[in-house]
Amino acid sequence: MLVHIVYAHPSGDSFTHSLLEAFVAGLDEAGHPHTVSDLYAMDFNPVLSSDEYARESSYAADRPIPQEVAAEQAKLDAADGWAFVYPVWWSDVPAILKGWFDRVWTVGWAYHPSNLSRARKALALCAAGHTVEQLRETGLYQSMRAVMLADRVFDRADAKQFHLFDGSEAMTGDEWQRARQRHLQQAHKLGREIGA
Ligand SMILES: Cc1cc2nc3c(=O)[nH]c(=O)nc-3n(C[C@H](O)[C@H](O)[C@H](O)COP(=O)(O)O)c2cc1C
Repeated sequence: MLVHIVYAHPSGDSFTHSLLEAFVAGLDEAGHPHTVSDLYAMDFNPVLSSDEYARESSYAADRPIPQEVAAEQAKLDAADGWAFVYPVWWSDVPAILKGWFDRVWTVGWAYHPSNLSRARKALALCAAGHTVEQLRETGLYQSMRAVMLADRVFDRADAKQFHLFDGSEAMTGDEWQRARQRHLQQAHKLGREIGA
């Protein structure tokens, strides 16, 4: 399965980057080719312009879209699987990825009238400082999952999954090292088994 990864983190030393590496190693091990949009490395502009706003808000699917937006859509169209790899920042995706959705999910491609772009599988791999228990207690886990799967992916994929790699700030020392190792093994497995 050809997988397109949308990756949003500014640092190569981050836990999120380790998740990306583990996921890609799993894809490689199973022979799944992949492409990557590394949004910070690309210096992707996340700000919807007034022209883009006018096109979206009037459902004018016949109007042109910016070249960098078309390039993102072409990478997604070419792939059977999509993976979003990012940290939780203020209970949502980083701004650069939020703006990527604002711009790339265009009318006529992502929604309305009916020619929705589709993947066989879409995965969200999301690193969080809090534990999943803490995030469930406040309802934030449920809201982050719902926004990613019920809104952003919606029916644009046949199968969709949200995976939270939690605890990087809530845990310390050996506890975190063990959790980190477990998380990296899970990310590797998700890559290896994405075609299943
Ligand atoms: C600006 C910013 C906002 C954050 N907001 C949250 C948050 O709302 N909830 C949470 O669980 N963790 C939050 N975190 C923690 C990150 O999700 C956590 O560091 C994550 O595991 C990514 O680690 P990494 O930066 O080493 O990849 C935030 C971190 C930053 C830098």
